Amino acid sequence: MHPLQCVLQAQRWGPLASVSWLLFRTCRAQSSVHGTTCPGPGRQQENGVQKDFSSRLAAGPTFQHFLRSALDPQEKPDVEDPPPYLTVDELSGRQRKVYLETYGCQMNVNDTEIAWSVLQKSGYLRTRNLQEADVILLVTCSIREKAEQTIWNRLHQLKALKTKRLRSRVPLRIGILGCMAERLKEEILNREKMVDILAGPDAYRDLPRLLAVAESGQQAANVLLSLDETYADVMPVQTSPSATSAFVSIMRGCDNMCSYCIVPFTRGRERSRPVASILEEVRKLSEQGLKEVTLLGQNVNSFRDSSEVQFNNAVSANLSRGFSTNYKPKQGGLRFAHLLDHVSRVDPEMRIRFTSPHPKDFPDEVLQLIHERDNICKQIHLPAQSGSSRVLEAMRRGYSREAYVELVHHIRESIPGVSLSSDFIAGFCGETEEDHLQTVSLLREVQYNMGFLFAYSMRQKTRAYHRLKDDVPEEVKLRRLEELITVFREEATKANMASVGCTQLVLVEGHSKRSATDLCGRNDGNLKVIFPNVEMEDVSNSGVRVRAQPGDYVLVKITSTSSQTLKGHVLCRTTLKDSSAYC
Ligand code: 5AD
Ligand code: SF4
Repeated sequence: MHPLQCVLQAQRWGPLASVSWLLFRTCRAQSSVHGTTCPGPGRQQENGVQKDFSSRLAAGPTFQHFLRSALDPQEKPDVEDPPPYLTVDELSGRQRKVYLETYGCQMNVNDTEIAWSVLQKSGYLRTRNLQEADVILLVTCSIREKAEQTIWNRLHQLKALKTKRLRSRVPLRIGILGCMAERLKEEILNREKMVDILAGPDAYRDLPRLLAVAESGQQAANVLLSLDETYADVMPVQTSPSATSAFVSIMRGCDNMCSYCIVPFTRGRERSRPVASILEEVRKLSEQGLKEVTLLGQNVNSFRDSSEVQFNNAVSANLSRGFSTNYKPKQGGLRFAHLLDHVSRVDPEMRIRFTSPHPKDFPDEVLQLIHERDNICKQIHLPAQSGSSRVLEAMRRGYSREAYVELVHHIRESIPGVSLSSDFIAGFCGETEEDHLQTVSLLREVQYNMGFLFAYSMRQKTRAYHRLKDDVPEEVKLRRLEELITVFREEATKANMASVGCTQLVLVEGHSKRSATDLCGRNDGNLKVIFPNVEMEDVSNSGVRVRAQPGDYVLVKITSTSSQTLKGHVLCRTTLKDSSAYC
């Protein structure tokens, strides 16, 4: 961020005297480079701490230091120096208990682990019991109105808990993290006085300091978006030690600016994590025995690691045929195919998935790699959003229905048996009945295996909010959504029927929730597969009979299906490289 922006931001929030707008970390770095100072919290300056701050700054790191650590995020220290107005002791968690609650997408699940990793290093403990928490943090989502309403409702419930606590020992602190903190900023602090801290998606490193300030009874916020924060050096803590799979965040933010979407405003500009740090995390997960890694990002396949200078970096934009971007084409950097190639070589027994991609970034190298590598799942999420070219244009998606359908055919030719899923929005601005029927026909034509369907929800700040009219009545949106869901289910049931009689490789997750005598796992296409928990042959130890454990690969013969689940009987325990799923 430019230092001027930093000052402006501080001024914009000026009237909120009780809020400590903690811009310290970013400002300190910018100040030393540009010779500009940022207003810190006034109270501290009155106490003469500013003098101490200036002398620390004078003796602080050099310009070269910042250049180095910008190039190599690994160099960022694990524990930041305390700001001048806090002591090391105040900054530490002192074993206070944190309760984290996650809403929204997989990125938020991963962000929760990053936030927890930061707090754990700072001396906080984690609790799964709300009643014993000293700090409650909600990792929030803003994508649709309903997601935000859920958080407001939760805050009302937590209010009662906090009020009760006022009379007891340690006061309860409540924080809003993630997209809603970023989107609503002071509205949350004003509306819900009991919220103590706000941390936007790029401010999780700042949590110990925000919480330390909150201890003094002030509200504290950091909602600065960053151009380079990828948390590359923050190893997320795997919250469930028995899990077979993990999520690895590889990029953050979005530059696409689809006209309906709030994400570019809440999560900021696209930036990718250095390949080396991703590989290091995947290696560690493999050593821990995890069997599946899902690479995560808002536009996961737009990955472009430009952190290292390369000689041969004039590679073209490499978009899918018939697709365009809303932004100036970018050049150079290590692209998604390179990353996928290296990640899939780490451990041939580890399945690799990725989500959520944009259809524009599927060059042939990526498709070929998915086809060739046994451990890259043959499953592609291809968010279409609408089947009408007219609506797609209003959404600024950068493709027509025809280009999308051509891509689907190309993917199916390149990766036989690939499983496809998609996102759709019903009732976008100006959507006519004819447009809606085009979406219905796309669902029929592609016959997705999985689908995520939503009614359009107008979001302030977006292009649609400023330029288009949210003119499809609510009941029409809901009726169209219902129709899309029905058609999707019919088609998915048909698509899944094709696997009856096939033998599929399943990664076992554990017991089925519905029946204690069944196990459940996921096939290559990420569909749930249920099968009886019986003894079976182990192909690696002939003659030995075993029962499947979480993390094992088994071959299952599929006997029946619905739109969301497959059922079958287990044949044997195997390995990923020895298995051959067949029909
Ligand atoms: N209204 C409804 N759905 C939305 N999505 C994104 N923004 C909105 C909105 N304003 C959906 C898109 C996206 C998915 C993550 O959420 O389908 O792919
Ligand atoms: Fe939102 Fe479009 Fe970016 Fe996806 S690609 S996060 S829908 S703006």
